[in-house]
Amino acid sequence: MRSPSIPYLCRMEALLIQIEELKKEIAAFNGGDAEAFRIKYLGSKGLVKSLMGEMKQVPAEKKKEAGQLLNEFKLFTEERYEALRSASASNGKAQASNIDLSLPGDPMPLGSRHPISLVKNRIISIFQRLGFAVAEGPEIEDDFHNFTALNLPENHPARDMQDTFYISHPATGGADWLLRTHTSSVQVREMEKGKLPIRIICPGRVYRNETISARAHCFFHQVEGLYIAENVSFADLKQTLYFFVQEMFGETVKIRFRPSYFPFTEPSAEMDISCLICGGEGCSVCKRTGWVEILGCGMVHPNVLDNCGIDSSKYTGFAFGMGIERITMLKYQIKDLRLFSENDVRFLDQFSGAV
Ligand code: PHE
Repeated sequence: MRSPSIPYLCRMEALLIQIEELKKEIAAFNGGDAEAFRIKYLGSKGLVKSLMGEMKQVPAEKKKEAGQLLNEFKLFTEERYEALRSASASNGKAQASNIDLSLPGDPMPLGSRHPISLVKNRIISIFQRLGFAVAEGPEIEDDFHNFTALNLPENHPARDMQDTFYISHPATGGADWLLRTHTSSVQVREMEKGKLPIRIICPGRVYRNETISARAHCFFHQVEGLYIAENVSFADLKQTLYFFVQEMFGETVKIRFRPSYFPFTEPSAEMDISCLICGGEGCSVCKRTGWVEILGCGMVHPNVLDNCGIDSSKYTGFAFGMGIERITMLKYQIKDLRLFSENDVRFLDQFSGAV
């Protein structure tokens, strides 16, 4: 005899109907996504779990029957899940085996070194071969290291030549700070250490208050050199610079020295090289002279040695300084200095692979 409890009976029948419906749905499931199937039917909030929860409402005498039904249904769902899983795994393998490892990869655009860095490194390596060591110093300098020690006392007219950026900030106590106008300040710092002989080059950025144009900028880069020992002569300076020019620009390039003036050297000179464009014939780059200026140099002034605590009766030395931008422009025939600081990749790209 059936239980008189009509709602309970309804519960059992409803369960049967629900299971049948779900079986149909599960058999037809071909979403291909085994994980989505697991979450929907077998997960902790899945349909199998929630049907199990309905067991509570099934009357006691029907519990066994309902339990069996639900277990069967659970097994059925689990089998279907396993089938879906192994199908998608073998599908994945098939996809993996479609990868052709011999195909070339997508090209990755490579950066390149900045032309100023390329030329700076080249200059450094040439002088290193002659035994020069690299020395560095601060870009924010005091008046002594940038000027006074270099035989440019206060009010010296040659200070005007350097268009200095001065820094006045309460934190500096109103003292005489400035952005270095040349890397000669590093040479002073090196001389102060008092370790002789000195054979250094000083690469670095320098600042001058100039209007920006194709030929001038308010910051640029220099490499300056200093050699101090006993019996250093102007002939040593000439030979060192001649070697540098030949290594940098090739063996056919000629050099010449013109007398000049720098407060920190005596005698002083400017060095020209034969024009790389016209080979000395005369063109617009060399202004029809056949020569282009590349650096300043001279024998270190005895006052500078004395200011830095070096015995000028015993030691002599030479110094030179060049702008890296200028050397780079000559080497790569670049017409506008502003290109170096604009970071236009169309310009910079042209140096990829250059050494
Ligand atoms: N310091 C000079 C300048 O910046 C260059 C230089 C260095 C000249 C050493 C002579 C000797 O213009």
